[in-house]
Amino acid sequence: MGKIVALVSGKGGTGKSTLCVTLGMVLVRKGYRVLLIDCDCGMRALDILMEIDRNLVFDISDVIKGNCTEEKIIYPCEFCEGLFLISAPQNPDDLVCKEDMKHFTDSIRNQFDYILLDAPSGIGKAMESAVYNADICLVVANAEAVSVRCCVSVRRKLYDLDKNNIRLIINKFSKKEFRKNPDYPDLDSIIDETGIQLIGIIADDKKTIRSLRSAMQSVRGVSAMECVRRTACRIDGENIPLLIC
Ligand SMILES: Nc1ncnc2c1ncn2[C@@H]1O[C@H](COP(=O)(O)OP(=O)(O)OP(=O)(O)O)[C@@H](O)[C@H]1O
Ligand SMILES: [Mg+2]
Repeated sequence: MGKIVALVSGKGGTGKSTLCVTLGMVLVRKGYRVLLIDCDCGMRALDILMEIDRNLVFDISDVIKGNCTEEKIIYPCEFCEGLFLISAPQNPDDLVCKEDMKHFTDSIRNQFDYILLDAPSGIGKAMESAVYNADICLVVANAEAVSVRCCVSVRRKLYDLDKNNIRLIINKFSKKEFRKNPDYPDLDSIIDETGIQLIGIIADDKKTIRSLRSAMQSVRGVSAMECVRRTACRIDGENIPLLIC
């Protein structure tokens, strides 16, 4: 039975969608079959990152409304065999409620080893749908004051929803830039403020992130992808150290 992982954040643009795809890619490299579900209704992104947008016809709301069968909404990623996408609706009125999302993810979780759900930023209804059936919630933040403070609201919201298995990922991290940041003397001060246990730190690495297709070829030795690989291993229960770039 597949493990369901939701990626959330308070502040927008912390890197959830990108991380959702790169985590999926490294989990596929570990030999797993991985499904990504875009939950950002009206603002979907994963189809573009996975280069599926041109072929996309059906989204998750089509199955919920009975417009098509389940197989029709699952799209394979051409540059990463074993990685699949279910897209979010483009129409915000087609938001899938949390009960329907739970029912649907339960019905397909035996077909995949991992199901990663990419939530929209914030703590609204679409975020609730994304986390409702998740086994683990990953709060994606950047090492800056606004992003860190937003994690506190997200953590409270997750506790309200009875989601207690929560981990923090600090994305777009640069040791050099962090040293210049007067808000935080060290990483522990960020972790303390969020109140969330750290599971990953991902390097700020715009060059690699620009093309996920080429990032797929070169996981080892490339800073952001090596960070993602280690984070995925930790999510998968392996006890390996973080890479702090
Ligand atoms: N590790 C990284 N290093 C450098 N840039 C990154 C990294 N991860 C993501 N980015 C960049 O940050 C920007 C936002 O990323 P992304 O769209 O994945 O964020 P998001 O949290 O999903 O945003 P939203 O809240 O709008 O859904 C993009 O330009 C992306 O390329
Ligand atoms: Mg996104």
